[in-house]
Amino acid sequence: MIDFLELIKYKKNNKFYNSKEINFIVQSYLNDHIDEQNMTLWLKEIYEYGMNIDETVLYTESIINSGEKIEFDSLDGYVIDKHSTGGVGDKVSLILGPILVACGCFVPMVVGRHLGHTGGTLDKLESIPGYNGLINLDKFKKIVKKVGISIIGQTSEICPADRKIYSLRDKTNTIASLPLICGSIMSKKISEGIHGLVLDIKYGNGAFLETKKDGQRLGKLLSLIGKKFNVDVKYLGTNMNQPLGNFSGLNCEVIESIDCLKGRGADDLMDVVFELGRVACSLAKIDNSKQKMIDVINNGKAYEIFEKMVYEHGGDINRIHCNYTDCIDIKANESGSIEFIDTKKIGDAVNYINKLKGTRDNSSGAEFLKKNNDKVSKGDVILRLFSNDLNTLKLRERLVRESYIIK
Ligand code: URA
Repeated sequence: MIDFLELIKYKKNNKFYNSKEINFIVQSYLNDHIDEQNMTLWLKEIYEYGMNIDETVLYTESIINSGEKIEFDSLDGYVIDKHSTGGVGDKVSLILGPILVACGCFVPMVVGRHLGHTGGTLDKLESIPGYNGLINLDKFKKIVKKVGISIIGQTSEICPADRKIYSLRDKTNTIASLPLICGSIMSKKISEGIHGLVLDIKYGNGAFLETKKDGQRLGKLLSLIGKKFNVDVKYLGTNMNQPLGNFSGLNCEVIESIDCLKGRGADDLMDVVFELGRVACSLAKIDNSKQKMIDVINNGKAYEIFEKMVYEHGGDINRIHCNYTDCIDIKANESGSIEFIDTKKIGDAVNYINKLKGTRDNSSGAEFLKKNNDKVSKGDVILRLFSNDLNTLKLRERLVRESYIIK
């Protein structure tokens, strides 16, 4: 009989878990055989002392086995996904996914909701009228086969143990633990039945990891875990010292993504899309990838795939509007150039105004009119905050104004 309280002490005593012990921890919590209080003690120990790579692999495997693992044997193409560690204005999945499909890949994508100050791809998709991101796995597989891409949230069929542990980590401030992050991200991705994965590891003041070096450590660990499960993983570190693209919010980010798919994307955003796309295409053995990606944007194929995916999920692309009633313009209080943007504060403000009286205000968000190093004159609008409630905007106006340093 395994004693859970003994297992909690392992890390402090420099002992390593075997597969039976890790399974016992994950399964016991999933099946309510251990309570939140004891599981929190275990999470705090891992947060404090970590786990080695072998234990992290066992933990990842145990989480995968708590749900179903998808198989895509009959697809005629490379099956790939892209994952970002989270940023502000990061809508790359909505743009790159259809582009990769138009270049010949299949993209089954399980995504998350907003976390901390970062936006969630599922929240953005669900702002499309009718879009159902919580379909069952059978339907998910059918859409991937038919359209090439389906983007869904984590349902109870995929890694249910992660869902439960993740929610406890969120409540107990134990998110920022490398082995727990790796297990959580990689279990979901490996369960998708992919051959390859491209990771966008964000670093900077709007990311969970502040430095490029921290990002590299995470990237290396995630790649190692992928290898153990026969998934080719490549990672890129990208800068999050300012919001990505022109908008952050819900409908406004979907509209911006559509603009990108129609060839009207902001340079900083398209640079990240093309860089990650290049890496993804190298995994899929697609040559001349930059030109191919530009071609599928110019000939309308990438947009058509996005439109079909939205349709298959019940969404109505013609009803996506960003009709807000109120806005506040944040203006430069002096002339000079933008020296610093506190991206995390802006992300926090956007997530705050995205919620209106407990529901989602799909038309709320922020438009970034000036970015780092841009020259401004006193009185120029640097950011526009918008929503359907002026009071909500006013409550975040100061925070956003204080996020900019002009020198
Ligand atoms: N995203 C996840 O899915 N899990 C984590 O632990 C962190 C980010």
